[in-house]
Amino acid sequence: MIDKIRRSAEFLKSEGFEKCDVLIIIGTGLSGLIEDIDVDIKIPYYRVDGWPVSTVKSHKGELIQGMLHDKTVTVMSGRFHYYEGYSFQEIVLPLRTLLYLGTNLFIVTNAAGGVNDDFDAGDIMIINDHINLMGGNPLRGRNIEELGPRFPSMLDAYSLKYIRMTEKTALANNINIYNGVYCGLQGPSLETIAEYNMVKNLGADAVGMSTVPEVIAARHMGVDVLGISAITNIVNKKDTDHSSHDDVIENAMRAGEKIRKILRGFIKGLDFE
Ligand code: HPA
Repeated sequence: MIDKIRRSAEFLKSEGFEKCDVLIIIGTGLSGLIEDIDVDIKIPYYRVDGWPVSTVKSHKGELIQGMLHDKTVTVMSGRFHYYEGYSFQEIVLPLRTLLYLGTNLFIVTNAAGGVNDDFDAGDIMIINDHINLMGGNPLRGRNIEELGPRFPSMLDAYSLKYIRMTEKTALANNINIYNGVYCGLQGPSLETIAEYNMVKNLGADAVGMSTVPEVIAARHMGVDVLGISAITNIVNKKDTDHSSHDDVIENAMRAGEKIRKILRGFIKGLDFE
């Protein structure tokens, strides 16, 4: 695995990619974010030998590096999911490669179903913690000491400093934002009513099928994480007519516009020594 990471990192370097200030994974419907970036380099994932290939229509699979204000930003447009058939180690290979190249901050975004009764479709939620119900962990197997410790702490998985900064930026932009726990499930089938009740009782505010493996891999490597969910549909007992994937994408785009505005301000305000 470490050899694969090194080889992919060398290839990306030869294409001009370098250490960035901020690495962002953008989820379903959130590609508007890319329009804010002065793009220097763009390559499709399939050009990187050994990386998986996205099988989801709404996930493009493109790697971009450019400038946003005075910060170097690398964007992974499109990600890999466990439900596509990849192992947890395969899912995090592209991310680990980019973290290996180096970044000061990893921002992960996703589309999620709202479990908290206060949420509406189109809302956004800062992830302040997660529950891993995905049935696996990308760190399973021999530990790669060069990347991080065998038993990395997850107590501070989501950086409080960046959560507070995001809240401030949202407030300054008059954007309503929630704060809550993201529960990662395997999917791709959506939740039954009993499963909805379970995740709610466990303390989750949103459910989704991504993010958890990526955050674990990033924290293993000691990188600070900020997570934001676009609430694309409400999962509850009254939602007998489960939202279609098209609705999910439309609401992700509405929420995505808010996330885009917040991240623009947030990244401008970042100050890495
Ligand atoms: N459940 C799980 N994952 C999701 C959902 C959902 O309702 N919406 C978007 N991702």
